[in-house]
Amino acid sequence: MTKLSLLLTSVVLLNAGLSHAGPIEDQIKYRQSAYSFIGWNTNKIKAQLDKPETFSKEEVIAAANAIAAAANSGLGALYGSGTDQGEGWRKTRLKSEFFQKPDEAKKLATTFNLEANEFAKVAETGDPVQIKVKFGKLTQSCKACHDSFREKDPK
Ligand code: HEC
Repeated sequence: MTKLSLLLTSVVLLNAGLSHAGPIEDQIKYRQSAYSFIGWNTNKIKAQLDKPETFSKEEVIAAANAIAAAANSGLGALYGSGTDQGEGWRKTRLKSEFFQKPDEAKKLATTFNLEANEFAKVAETGDPVQIKVKFGKLTQSCKACHDSFREKDPK
C-alpha cells in the first residue's frame, strides 16, 4: 500500500470508531483528567498565594505553564457530540446545555484560553500582587464555565 492509501485507511477506521461508545468514554476520561490536572496546578498556586511565606516564583511559573499548556492542547476535541452522557473515570458532569448554546460555550472556552495564556505571562514577573489579580481572573473563567455547563453533582 502507498503511504496515502494507508493514511486514508486509518482515517476511515478512525471515523468508524467515533460512532462507538469507546471513544466517547475516552473523550470523557481525557477531559476529566485534563481538568483534574488543571485543578491540581491551580490549587498549588492558590496555596502559595494564601501563605505568602511559601511563595516560590519557579513553582508558580511551572504551574502556570502547565495550565496554559493544557488550555492550548485543544480541549475542544474532548467535547464531541454525545459526551454529555456516559462515563469516563466517573459519570460525566457535562450539561447538555453545552451543545444547545454553542456561542456561549465558545465564548467561555476562549476566555479561559486567553486568561490561561495571560496568566502564564504574568507569572514570569514573579510579582505576587500582579499574580494574585490575574489568578483571580483565571479562576473566574473556570467558574463561569462550571456555572453554565457543569452539573453540581454527579448525574
Ligand atoms: C469550557 C468550560 C470549562 C472551563 C473553562 C473549565 N472547566 Fe473545569 N470542568 C468543565 C466540565 C464540563 C467538567 C466536567 C467534565 C466531565 O465530567 O466530563 C469540568 C470538571 C472540572 C474538574 C473535575 C474533574 C474531574 O475529576 O471530573 C475540576 C477539578 C475542574 N474542572 C477545574 C477547573 C479549573 C481549575 C479551571 C480553570 C483554571 C476549569 N476547570 C476550567 C468545564 C470547564
